[in-house]
Amino acid sequence: MTDTGRPDKHEPRSLKPLSRAVHAGNAIDPGTGALRTPIVMANSYALPEDPSSISWSSSEHTIYTRNGAVNQKALQSKLALLEGGEDAVVLASGVAALHAVFFTLLKSGDHVVVADQTYEATFRLFTELLPEKYGIEATLVDTSDLDAVRAALRPNTALLHTETIANPTTRVADIRALADIAHDAGAVLSVDSTFTPPPISTPLAQGADLVVHSLTKYINGHGDAMGGAVIGSSELITRIKADAMVDVGGVISPFNAWLITRGSVTLPLRLRQHVTSAQRVAEFLDSDPRVAFVYYPGLVSHPQHALAQRVLPNGAGAVMSFAVTGDSDTQNRFVAALRVITSAVSLGHDESLIVHVGTEGPRVAHYADEFKRFGHLRLSIGLEDADDLVEDLRAALDATFPA
Ligand SMILES: Cc1ncc(COP(=O)(O)O)c(C=O)c1O
Repeated sequence: MTDTGRPDKHEPRSLKPLSRAVHAGNAIDPGTGALRTPIVMANSYALPEDPSSISWSSSEHTIYTRNGAVNQKALQSKLALLEGGEDAVVLASGVAALHAVFFTLLKSGDHVVVADQTYEATFRLFTELLPEKYGIEATLVDTSDLDAVRAALRPNTALLHTETIANPTTRVADIRALADIAHDAGAVLSVDSTFTPPPISTPLAQGADLVVHSLTKYINGHGDAMGGAVIGSSELITRIKADAMVDVGGVISPFNAWLITRGSVTLPLRLRQHVTSAQRVAEFLDSDPRVAFVYYPGLVSHPQHALAQRVLPNGAGAVMSFAVTGDSDTQNRFVAALRVITSAVSLGHDESLIVHVGTEGPRVAHYADEFKRFGHLRLSIGLEDADDLVEDLRAALDATFPA
């Protein structure tokens, strides 16, 4: 029985994904009996009578919001349950979460093998900031080439880092194979799974040691709060909390943690719709001769479609990259003609977002030839009716290429 006299709630770990997203991290508030964890904006919490043995770098006691407080802890326990990890840490943004992993696990002289197609900040951290400022060496590899990954390992390789589906190229990672390679070399495998939140993918179950999310995207899902998370074993997460959350301090606000907890309730339901609509839109774009190329792992034409079907049986996410035939001005004219899909960065929001990325910049050298020739449009499919999205794209193609 709980303090409120009600029977204990079902253990969420044993529930199916839809039920888990509703019940995980949603304990009855002991102070009020409320069925929702209240937003607690206090910075400080009352200390016990004898606080002299408390470690100020620990998150064990609720003492100060930078050490983790009520709303952060509710979200952490929910994310640990959804990803199947022992513990989680939530931070102010996805990039804060990525930095937390790299800062905690790596030291000067360590070597990292990192996917050569990743989110911009990850690319810059490993090609510029971490080598230049901290003497960390990084080798960028095509993580779909397992022999290349093995060949890149060194005796001092401490970390292998990849994305489940790469931003923006949609390259798919074989997490189980990469985990075996990392572990044989005594390295940790961290996976940024922002494009494929649970239940679409649960990399820990496939052998990853740490999963990173930008909560800003699908897990919040409503485009109104930033956050990031790392999920994994108690041992690794305790270290990340102490080093990166408490002593570096990229802490999430209690209000954002509450918003993200609220948004995450509908995550599996939303993902079903995102994925179904994305498949429909990708097939439409792929069939139109005015479209130069489409990369979406759910398409038979995707170079890793078979792998995607094996490792992502519940859907290949809802982000695709494509271009219309023509130069940069043509891509801009096409985007300007859209009336439902919004031109803006980010992804995983309720509304569909598109961003035109050109052919310049060091990341593009690692992309397939089509990306180098046309640039690309990264499209994140939202929760609108797929008919409206297809119609919007068709009308914008007609406006861009008058008969
Ligand atoms: C794969 C991936 N990881 C991390 C991030 C960074 O997340 P945030 O914007 O919450 O810092 C992004 C942002 O787009 C992303 O796409």
